[in-house]
Amino acid sequence: METKILSGQEAIKLGAEIVRAGGVVAFPTETVYGLAANAYNPDAVRAVFAAKGRPMDNPLIVHLADKKLIHTVTSGFDEKYNALINAFMPGPLTLVVPRKDSIPDEVTAGLDTVGVRVPSDPVCSAFLAACGVPVAAPSANLSTRISPTSARHVYEDMKGRIPLIIDGGESIVGIESTVLDITGETPVVLRPGAVTAEMIASVLGGDVKLHSGKVLAAAPAPGMKYKHYAPSCECVVANDIASAVECYVKEQKAGKTPVILCRGEHTGELGGCRFIDLGRGDAEVCRNIYSALHKGEKIADFIICEDLGAQGVAASVMNRVNKAAGGKRV
Ligand code: TXA
Ligand code: MG
Repeated sequence: METKILSGQEAIKLGAEIVRAGGVVAFPTETVYGLAANAYNPDAVRAVFAAKGRPMDNPLIVHLADKKLIHTVTSGFDEKYNALINAFMPGPLTLVVPRKDSIPDEVTAGLDTVGVRVPSDPVCSAFLAACGVPVAAPSANLSTRISPTSARHVYEDMKGRIPLIIDGGESIVGIESTVLDITGETPVVLRPGAVTAEMIASVLGGDVKLHSGKVLAAAPAPGMKYKHYAPSCECVVANDIASAVECYVKEQKAGKTPVILCRGEHTGELGGCRFIDLGRGDAEVCRNIYSALHKGEKIADFIICEDLGAQGVAASVMNRVNKAAGGKRV
């Protein structure tokens, strides 16, 4: 199958036609690119799992063009959470809510809840509106690979597997949405993202729990039990810049071609080490992290990423980097 990369109105119109006809296309969002299927069509949803090579027990998020449509996929949404919709939607927040029966088991992996998200990217909104149905979509990478933040990244994984990639430029947030389960007593962050637990707690004026992220057979976000975001080469997290440089020198002596990923503020402290600049400030680092990992695995065979911090959005970025490194630290 030929995989086209198109942009603009033509791409949106063709993409929506393919989705309505039961096909699968890649589309941009502000977080990462997604692989779209009509959520009401179980065969189309199965085709998404096949294109991605993803186990069927890991549910997909349903994407809507407008927050007014949330009631079409959920039953019994707790009105006290309207404040979250008003504050963070459209945007990088997914709410896990009780599902309506019209959402097939293929989307939710048989759970009685559904993840729902209203993206803010304008090309995405136009595409979802043109589809006219809820769109089930995972990130548009092969299962366990680094998530895509550009049409080029999608092409590398999905070439020959899908007919169309809608090119909407680079994703401005850069990591996947925050997944928040609001079906229990206390809201639980199942996956951290750009909307942080602190931001959610301040809107709700109450407690928000963080899921430990431990690997559990019955993890509440089934995706958490799978290996994720892995570059094709070795990857480690360095406690600080000095440890990063030390590791670099050691690996180089061992015949490796390493590269250091670090904040813009630290590029002057690396001596002659090769580096990829993640930019300045948490939002920029978040936007650049996946493209840096994509680039890193192409130009190096050993990626060293400095610890980017444990607060706010930096902590969400480190959630992805730690997975990329398989928990390895130097
Ligand atoms: O930003 C994003 O969320 C991107 C873009 C494309 O919207 N999508 C994305 O989808 O990251 P995916 O499939 O790669 O990750 C969805 C995560 C998985 O960890 C999955 O287990 C969890 O959300 N999830 C989905 N539905 C759920 C549900 N009903 N209950 C608990 N976790 C759920
Ligand atoms: Mg994913």
